[in-house]
Amino acid sequence: MAKKYNIAVIPGDGIGPEITKSAIDVLEAATSKRDIEIFTKELKAGGAAIDSYGIPLPQETIASAKDSDAVLLGAVGGPKWDNVEPDLRPEKALLGLRSGLGLYANIRPVTVYNELKDASPLKNPGNIDFVIVRELTGGIYFGKTGFYQSGDHLSDGSVKGKIAYDTESYSEGEINRILKIAFELAMKRRKKLTLVDKANVLLTSRMWRRLASQMSFDYPEVEFDCLYVDNAAMQLISRPATFDVIVTNNIFGDILSDEAGQIAGSIGMLPSASLGAPGTPGLFEPIHGSAPDLAGQNKANPMACILSAAMMMRMAFGEEEIAQDIENAVKKTLEKGLRTSDITFVGEGKNTTLVGTNEITGAVIANL
Ligand code: IPM
Ligand code: MG
Repeated sequence: MAKKYNIAVIPGDGIGPEITKSAIDVLEAATSKRDIEIFTKELKAGGAAIDSYGIPLPQETIASAKDSDAVLLGAVGGPKWDNVEPDLRPEKALLGLRSGLGLYANIRPVTVYNELKDASPLKNPGNIDFVIVRELTGGIYFGKTGFYQSGDHLSDGSVKGKIAYDTESYSEGEINRILKIAFELAMKRRKKLTLVDKANVLLTSRMWRRLASQMSFDYPEVEFDCLYVDNAAMQLISRPATFDVIVTNNIFGDILSDEAGQIAGSIGMLPSASLGAPGTPGLFEPIHGSAPDLAGQNKANPMACILSAAMMMRMAFGEEEIAQDIENAVKKTLEKGLRTSDITFVGEGKNTTLVGTNEITGAVIANL
């Protein structure tokens, strides 16, 4: 009997609907070849939900996502909703889904395909193959936040006025559970782990450093080191191929993964998995945003979403063969020279063809 998986699909906004459609088309083709059935249900979140229900994350979306085997998400947000109240912003949907589903571990693999080395702004990117493990449900994105009025004065005599604050806070438990995931991942890879923090300034970072150093004794085979985040931003450019696993907090992981996207040639290539407690549905999404300027024009690069679907097959369902089928099809498509417009160096004496979302998706399916 064919195995069956229930996938909740949250297309979201901007290019989200186009790239999730691509990914599902690829998944359907890849799974049917291996006698597996997927069932999809579409859920609303982000701007799309604001337009339909007046709120970015309806209860129904959380409940239905929790009830699925895994979630595939496109992207949320766009200029249309930039002026809504902070609590109603589309991004709140993503944060709400992450916390609602308990998705504390965000796994962002960064590889540079041989064919795309020219698209990387680095002269000699080398063999880049690292993973950013980003803590996803804590830190400043979820800390105490607010405003208050102050009558105090600054050193130049001006009145402070309204003060806004966001708080970075982490519990030992939150830090230890993500560190464990990072150490375990390092054991399965090249056995190198780098903690990125700002321990020269922040108390929370000093706690991350203490706990990581303690845990490193349980993993004597793992070569463990620490970098301050400003230095890490620099080292990622100067020696990207030397990194294996990077573990860090929510905000540093957010920032460094966009930097990694550029190193990889295009942020349109990088997938991610967000995982919670074993047995609960994970969420798989590209690391890029909703790219409103490209939306609806058959221009978006669907590869990050397609590769996120491959990660889903591997990590949510243990379907390693299907994951590899998809990854190989993506590679073949790049080898044949097909490129979407986000990837620079199209043309320029290279044997490449500029194509749209539909064409590149069709090519991936044909290459399965
Ligand atoms: C990401 C995005 C989100 C984040 C935004 C859209 C809230 O940038 O997934 O990296 O900051 O986590
Ligand atoms: Mg980001």
